[in-house]
Amino acid sequence: MPQKIIIDTDPGQDDAVAILLALASPELEVLGITAVAGNVPLELTARNARMVCELAGRTDVPVFAGCDRPLDRALVTAEHVHGQTGLDGPTLPEPEMPLQDKHAVDFIVETVRATDGVTLCPLGPLTNIATALRRAPDIAERIERIVLMGGAYFEVGNITPTAEFNIYVDPQAADEVFRAGVPITVLPLDVTHKALVTQPRLDAFRAMGTPIGQTVAEWTGFFERFDKEKYGSQGAPLHDPCVIAWLLRPDLFSGREVNVEIETASELCLGMTVADWWGVTDRAPNALFIGDVDADGFFGLLTDRLAHL
Ligand code: BDR
Ligand code: CA
Repeated sequence: MPQKIIIDTDPGQDDAVAILLALASPELEVLGITAVAGNVPLELTARNARMVCELAGRTDVPVFAGCDRPLDRALVTAEHVHGQTGLDGPTLPEPEMPLQDKHAVDFIVETVRATDGVTLCPLGPLTNIATALRRAPDIAERIERIVLMGGAYFEVGNITPTAEFNIYVDPQAADEVFRAGVPITVLPLDVTHKALVTQPRLDAFRAMGTPIGQTVAEWTGFFERFDKEKYGSQGAPLHDPCVIAWLLRPDLFSGREVNVEIETASELCLGMTVADWWGVTDRAPNALFIGDVDADGFFGLLTDRLAHL
């Protein structure tokens, strides 16, 4: 039986690769894709999610638009990383498949209530997930697990010195999700900054000789400039695909069950994921915080799956 997942996302080139990896994997059944405001405003993330489904030939996957702003603060976006559309790089056709009428939060609540064993995969700010938990607290005990990209420990921040983008955009939502009592797996920057699209890996995407291989190469080629300039890294970090890869091959990753709290008040440290990696408090563990990845194994999996899409 494939694992049932909902991808909650703000595409984003790396979100797009994550969606493709999920759609390419028979172990996973993508029940729906819910868009949230993040890298770019909601109108664009809902558009981009549909463009990715069309690229994969999967117009059967329903796409829902969700929250257009964080719970209690103004939206912060990341066009400086992802470009004005969020999916800058290759030119793709505007999507023809419709956006679903239902709100993403209603879709999440109704699906989790009606279906056993649903895993939520948030790849952007946690606004839709927190709103669903606020509206329907009963779903907390029905969610199989939340596997999210967000936060950082040793690597600290990419949007402020202490915060990672997804958590920083909506710290209140993140705080509520981490307190909800749902099993959580966190793929933080510490891991995703090791999943770099180096030149040989970029060449491997191109060498597929398929529209998907070419598009992924152009997406990652576009957004690598940000990380190369900022961190001097060897290529674009594939943050969000790590979430899907963890579902497929958890053996490629290692981490610890730790307590993670979200800073929601401090001006300097807003959105910081305070992970008790060394167990120096008596706060109960609430998340599996991943610390390392076999990057070659990850790229082998990704390249192999995308080549067959
Ligand atoms: C996260 O922020 C976004 O820019 C990426 O899509 C990823 O989800 C990395 O901090
Ligand atoms: Ca994202």
